[in-house]
Amino acid sequence: MIGTATLTQFNIHQQRKFSATRGELTLLLDDVARACKSISHAVNQGALSGTLGASESSNVQGEVQKQLDLICDELFTDALIWTGHLAAMASEEVDDIIAIPQQYPKGKYLICFDPLDGSSNIDVNLSVGTIFSILRCPDGVETPTAVDFMQPGTRQVCAGFCIYGPATILVLTSGAGVNGFTLDHDVGEFILTHPQIKIPEDTAEFAINVSNQRYWEQPVQRYVDECMQGVQGVREKNFNMRWIASMVAEVYRILTRGGIFMYPVDNKEPLMPGRLRLMYEANPMSFIIEQAGGMASTGRQRIMEILPDDIHQRIPVMMGSKHEVERIVSYHTK
Ligand code: F6P
Repeated sequence: MIGTATLTQFNIHQQRKFSATRGELTLLLDDVARACKSISHAVNQGALSGTLGASESSNVQGEVQKQLDLICDELFTDALIWTGHLAAMASEEVDDIIAIPQQYPKGKYLICFDPLDGSSNIDVNLSVGTIFSILRCPDGVETPTAVDFMQPGTRQVCAGFCIYGPATILVLTSGAGVNGFTLDHDVGEFILTHPQIKIPEDTAEFAINVSNQRYWEQPVQRYVDECMQGVQGVREKNFNMRWIASMVAEVYRILTRGGIFMYPVDNKEPLMPGRLRLMYEANPMSFIIEQAGGMASTGRQRIMEILPDDIHQRIPVMMGSKHEVERIVSYHTK
């Protein structure tokens, strides 16, 4: 199937294997893929579209939105809102949940998404991506509110991200492993190119924004310090460091060759419990990482077991190769 199966064919095969599913998820994922193709095109246009740079607005977290953040949010929302597969949506770029308008039918799924993750990279032409997490709308709920989204990551039906890099690649899990599909621009289809991705359990590569070092908690200080000591230190091996400032790119690298990615809590802004958002960044990425054999934690708790209290909740993130995440978790508990 490698290099020949389209995303739709692959999902239909999966659907037949797990006969309980009736194809609604396959249709929803087709719509998500179509949205990602439009975003890929918009991102690819670069300066030609005249949409690089900041917009005049900020999101709920007070971050100045890029023009492309807003364009991609609209592309993703417009591609999904009318389809009849969703009961409601939640976007990084929108304060409240997005209701399905009266004129459209409602479906049984909820979706949380970050339409353009890592968008500070747009103007410098580095990889960015779209992240999404699909939950089931609770039974009997006709018109969901934010409360209906407050489900732990363990309840995700499906999660994925699309990276817009040298190639556009969609990475998906529905709980039976992780598969990657590369966009064939000529044919206009995502093709299975990376079946059953597995993360090596050991690694000698870490990713963290070291400019925040003086604000980190002691366990993170210790972990990074030991990596930096290399062969002369307790780890007795040299480590490599990467920081792309784009979570999709860091996670894709980890899926490809292992590694650990950390955005820990720090005391730079004491009221901010981490930088990354639980529902549309940490949870979907944790589902993918765990399904690929890795581990994802806040340092003190498995990310996917957190019961959310807000759509835009932030949390500390440590994810990637299992043995390294286990090590940093053990430093937190000691
Ligand atoms: O907002 C999310 C994000 O852009 C991630 O994709 C990325 O890992 C992080 O923020 C970058 O943070 P910093 O600006 O501290 O490098």
